[in-house]
Amino acid sequence: MAHEITLVPGDGIGPTITDATVRVLEAAGFEAEWDRHIAGVTATEQGMDPLPAETLQSIRDRRLALKGPLTTPVGAGFRSINVAMRQEFDLYANLRPARSMMSGGRYDDIDLVIVRENTEGLYAGIEHYIGMEDDPKAVAESVMLITRFASERIVRYAFEYALDHDRDKVTLVHKANILKCTQGLFLEVGRQVAEEYEGQIEFEDKIVDNTAMQLVVDPYQFDVLVTENMFGDILSDQVAGLIGGLGFAPGANIGEDAAIFEPVHGSAPDIAGEGVANPTAQILAACLMLDHLDEAEMAERIRSSIRSVLDRGEVRTPDLGGDATTEEFADAVIAEVESGAVRV
Ligand code: NAI
Ligand code: MG
Repeated sequence: MAHEITLVPGDGIGPTITDATVRVLEAAGFEAEWDRHIAGVTATEQGMDPLPAETLQSIRDRRLALKGPLTTPVGAGFRSINVAMRQEFDLYANLRPARSMMSGGRYDDIDLVIVRENTEGLYAGIEHYIGMEDDPKAVAESVMLITRFASERIVRYAFEYALDHDRDKVTLVHKANILKCTQGLFLEVGRQVAEEYEGQIEFEDKIVDNTAMQLVVDPYQFDVLVTENMFGDILSDQVAGLIGGLGFAPGANIGEDAAIFEPVHGSAPDIAGEGVANPTAQILAACLMLDHLDEAEMAERIRSSIRSVLDRGEVRTPDLGGDATTEEFADAVIAEVESGAVRV
């Protein structure tokens, strides 16, 4: 039976890398009915809302979306559509695995997962200016919202993920030494949840700045990291750096009622339209979707095909020092997926 999935190709390089992804999924034998919808700048350019009601309704009906990156204007303009979608569907868990896809980088065999709280912290967007005398922007203020409810649910998610995926350790990352109420509550709740898993999963907590340093010095000490919204955003780009860059980093946004799968990277306006973006992160995001749909074997076949193509080194996109186009890379992965299918 075909899966019904909303497809939001996205802005910039989005349409190119999602096209490549859909072709790879089809080659692997994944059956889907894609309901295509626009959002972001692609929508505003057509005079529509950046988050059109039809797009939201499609995701609400299907509870599943594969999404390309969406451009967010910096400083002014509409608020992030990515953040809005996560809030709309209460996609509280942002899962960002970082696994080495090719050898010869700074580190080999990296395999860690960031579980990021996706609905609150500073990204709740509770901020405003305070005017003074003739300066309307004399002061800017932002609220770091941390609730017991959301902290408990994300730390529990991290432990359950660790149990389900044979992981050994959860590291809770925080800044409770300075932000005693907000980060302190996150840590306090985290320690309580951790007690329930004692004897099953190892637990430690670490201050975020130290964690950032330790990730560079010895990333192998980490396994699953759970943290609040902004630290998770920053650390997930950092761990993407450990495995060779944003081109390899997928993300899943998971809630009780819906899930949206997307790459960690953005719409890459500097290379948009050139047809040379690396589609790996988008394809890996689709693999996370396959895991979610209990198609783990198919996901693993696609991942190992990507690794084979990258390791042979003949077909690589420019971000990896090659000269292949997005389509050529996808074709190479498809050839590998199909030959793998014969071997199975
Ligand atoms: P970016 O991730 O789009 O690009 C950063 C650098 O990485 C650029 O040099 C880009 O060319 C390169 N890069 C990114 N993805 C690549 C790929 N697949 N293949 C090859 N090179 C790649 O980050 P930037 O420039 O800060 O943001 C651009 C736009 O994307 C902004 O509007 C931002 O708000 C948005 N964005 C959207 C996200 C989402 O939809 N979830 C996430 C992050 C940023
Ligand atoms: Mg980010």
